Amino acid sequence: MIAVGSDHGGYELKQEILKYLEKEGYEYRDYGSYDEQAVDYPVYAKKVARAILDGEAEKGILICGTGIGISIAANRIPGIRAALCSDCFSAEATRLHNDANIVCMGGRVVGPGLAVKIVDTFLKTDFSGEERHSRRIRMIEED
Ligand code: RB5
Repeated sequence: MIAVGSDHGGYELKQEILKYLEKEGYEYRDYGSYDEQAVDYPVYAKKVARAILDGEAEKGILICGTGIGISIAANRIPGIRAALCSDCFSAEATRLHNDANIVCMGGRVVGPGLAVKIVDTFLKTDFSGEERHSRRIRMIEED
């Protein structure tokens, strides 16, 4: 299952991403927000992170105006590796190297066509499993 969340700044782009997930036959859940009323992005970062950590979702998609606030909020949560992506190279690399479990985007930064390609790349790329990358990921969680 793919967990999806946004604030008001990401709401419009999220609608395009939900259409893509539907068309591709992904199982997904929209954790809000559900309209363009101003809301606080940490709420949605935490909902999507929680869904992943609880095992409800394998991966997440988070969108705010820039993608920055929502990625900062998600990355505060141990076990979450949220990658802010504005290009497909980064979306692929963050799966291969960082085993990122959330892709973040800015609804006021990337257009819908590119955003869909970023999500498609992110969801279809597996972690490389290479030792050096696994070691670095383990180090992220160490004190
Ligand atoms: C909301 O106006 C905006 O600050 C938010 O969507 C995001 O860009 C924060 O990083």
